[in-house]
Amino acid sequence: MITLKSLSSAALHSPVTVVLLGEGRSRADALPKALLSGLDALALKPGKAEALRTVTEGKVSTALYGLLPKEVTYDALEELVAELVKQLRACKASQVDVLLADDALLALTGALYKQLLLADDGFDRYQTTGLAPINADKPEQEPKQPFKPAFTVYLPAAFDLAAEQGKLKEANQMAAGIRQARRLVNEPANVMTPAYLAEEALKLAREHGFDIEVYDEQQIQQMGLTAFWSVAKGSDEPPRFLVMRYMNNPDTKELLALVGKGLTYDSGGYAIKPAAGMETMFCDMGGAAAVIGAMSVLAAMGARVNVVAVVAACENMISGHAYHNGDIIPSLAGKYIEVVNTDAEGRITLADAITYAATVLNADKIIDIATLTGAVGVALGHEITGVVADDEGIWQALQQASDASGDKVWRMPHFDHLAKHNKSDRADIKNSGGRPAGTATAALFCRAFACGKPWGHLDIAGTAYQQKASAKAPLGATGVGVELLTRAALTLFDE
Ligand code: BES
Ligand code: MN
Ligand code: ZN
Repeated sequence: MITLKSLSSAALHSPVTVVLLGEGRSRADALPKALLSGLDALALKPGKAEALRTVTEGKVSTALYGLLPKEVTYDALEELVAELVKQLRACKASQVDVLLADDALLALTGALYKQLLLADDGFDRYQTTGLAPINADKPEQEPKQPFKPAFTVYLPAAFDLAAEQGKLKEANQMAAGIRQARRLVNEPANVMTPAYLAEEALKLAREHGFDIEVYDEQQIQQMGLTAFWSVAKGSDEPPRFLVMRYMNNPDTKELLALVGKGLTYDSGGYAIKPAAGMETMFCDMGGAAAVIGAMSVLAAMGARVNVVAVVAACENMISGHAYHNGDIIPSLAGKYIEVVNTDAEGRITLADAITYAATVLNADKIIDIATLTGAVGVALGHEITGVVADDEGIWQALQQASDASGDKVWRMPHFDHLAKHNKSDRADIKNSGGRPAGTATAALFCRAFACGKPWGHLDIAGTAYQQKASAKAPLGATGVGVELLTRAALTLFDE
């Protein structure tokens, strides 16, 4: 939780104080004198947080100092907050005063609030305190203290407090959506089944006020979602098809569709993955989590947008009724797909979901988001999401969303010749164009099912899940895509 106050009213009461100074020390004169003594001895380096412990009247109080560079970038801010949080965690802070004694952060206060709100222990639901103690009165292990301090942020007089309250509200809404997405992705596949995902989406729809329809196995077949069904049928967990709607802009008929890949587990199917590559494949519904998170945030904000979100949720498994390498399967678009590799399953499920958005829902623009290719991680690493878009407006909205959210994106090509890699000798299209330009060809497979609608595509296979904590997020799911999609939707409806 964060409370905002003016620096001039700084009546410090928390045992831990954080002072964010600028290199220019532009607002240091507004600080209580006691906080400035001893500062010179610290030799602060920009972007780093240094601890200074002072003992006042027998009580130990801690002051942490951070020095902001003249030009604060999103990255520098994230790193500074991460460092501060590390130290706050070390001193088990539960109540923290944050004094912003510089103007350099004015453009990034929203990001500061968001990063403070998102600083937590990560996914520790299944980390219990160990074996139950024999004597309940004498627990052998101290129960784990969750890190969730109450922050009071004191702002320089030059900052408009009312505007900052607005930014804080938005940061709260965004952080809540990101947290939800992280939670959904972090749940292992034995818990997060397609049916469970649908239940969670239903709860969020009720909580935030968007509409949702959930279709079951039988309906999926009746609706002609045969490509999706072909992937799903190998699993004993029944699939679900989710259609969410938030129609809140009566001034326009424009409809934006968000389509999220919802593989609750990807074993690879008969093109089975090696164990090392399979271990984290519960994260393969990261796209679904992102669109569900974005719908929650847009509805919570009361955003003036018309958005539908579609998720085809299933597992990619091996069994007597699983699809085979070499199968030729029909799709909702009427195109036959040659399955050259059962591990390129995401695009097959997306094909029907995208066609559904383009035709049945008649969306004007489509953005899909998916943990689609290992190749995107090879090309861009784990901090940059790959984008392919055939529409400049969608690309620009995503780029702006990236600048505002700190979630980096990079555009990959969509030249026509790349689409030829997906040409099949046996059917209309094949589900893998091979290794070269793997992210682009996977994206262009998806585009083939958008029925010519303006389309954009986010490949988050490299960014949705991380094996160690970063400045951005704890170990595990990052929640990437929630803010990108939310902001892109806002921009696309902002005339
Ligand atoms: N779900 C994977 C992609 C993935 C890889 C997600 C790493 C998260 C981390 C996807 O379904 C997949 O298996 N893609 C294949 C495609 C190939 C068979 C053409 C890949 O990238 O190897
Ligand atoms: Mn796969
Ligand atoms: Zn997959």
